[in-house]
Amino acid sequence: MKINCFVYKNKKYSIDKNGEVTRKSHSNIALIKYWGKHNKKIQIPLNSSISYSLKNIYTVTRLIYHKHKKEKKNFSIKIFFSGKEKTSFLPKIFDFFHRISFYCSYLLDFNFIIETYNTFPHSSGIASSASSMSALALCVMEIEKKLVSSLEEDFFLKKASFLARLGSGSACRSIYPGLVVWGNHKSIKGSNDFYAIPYPYKIHTIFTKLVNTILIIDEKPKKILSSKGHLLMNSHLYAKERFKSANKNMDSLISILKIGDFQEFGELIEHEALTLHAMIMTSRPYFLWMKPNTINVIQSVWDFRKESKKNIYFTLDAGANVHLLYPIEEKKIILKWIYSDLFSFCKKIIESFCY
Ligand code: DP6
Repeated sequence: MKINCFVYKNKKYSIDKNGEVTRKSHSNIALIKYWGKHNKKIQIPLNSSISYSLKNIYTVTRLIYHKHKKEKKNFSIKIFFSGKEKTSFLPKIFDFFHRISFYCSYLLDFNFIIETYNTFPHSSGIASSASSMSALALCVMEIEKKLVSSLEEDFFLKKASFLARLGSGSACRSIYPGLVVWGNHKSIKGSNDFYAIPYPYKIHTIFTKLVNTILIIDEKPKKILSSKGHLLMNSHLYAKERFKSANKNMDSLISILKIGDFQEFGELIEHEALTLHAMIMTSRPYFLWMKPNTINVIQSVWDFRKESKKNIYFTLDAGANVHLLYPIEEKKIILKWIYSDLFSFCKKIIESFCY
């Protein structure tokens, strides 16, 4: 599919002057991490990534639109987050709307009010930009659907993912449930750098019902935004090897997902998570996202796994929080252990599922 097909070409259209659309979008947690993007091209990743969408963790967005009275060709935006006006979100949202207006020229004919809320703390390391940008992209596509009655579902989702990517890379994976791939990979048919696709191959049943328990170690907004971290990969000493290893891990994961080897799966995702943090720790300037309690949790998981032989593994996002992944069959014992042994390291525990 050529990206030109995403440009909205119809100059004349009819739509009610005022209206609103609402969409919900789930956050996602990457197993193979997107870390590094081209510095000259817009939002093009330097390696392919794969994530699970998360069940209880989502953003709901209502996009209210009013058509300009006169031909104006520019939009205004007001944004409300959890009922309060949030002017600090405006620059990012304006950038996003300007970027996507090349593909959705009708946006220039409206003024917008965005009302949005999350079911989780924003800027805590849980990817709020992923679910919020994808919810917004879905809302924009709902408007486009009002303009083009013949819009097909497949195109709707592909373009939503394409637009979401222009807001935040990982957001393009939040358009679909389940395992989702973004970034061209030679072994994954249909994978590309412009929009995400549902993982197209066989998945063993053990990977279809995973529990995701998120340990919130730090609720404060991160000091180093991931968008800055990505760019540091362009001059990172170990970048080339990292991109090679991510792509190699994708090949390994394809066969792990088919065979159903949970231990291999767990070791791969822990290695990916620690590699992501190693990259940030060895960039220039260097940063540390982990907190002492991140390490306490990791060490406890390793000890518990050794003693109990349970299938529990961790992954990390761009922050201090820890995502624990384990099969639903083992939930009862593992969750009991989490609350008894890990609760003291956390500010909050969020129970979720990969779906
Ligand atoms: C560590 O998607 O937040 O979560 O494209 O600059 O918005 P931008 O970055 P973002 O990066 C996410 C990085 C990650 C890994 C991942 O989700 O793949």
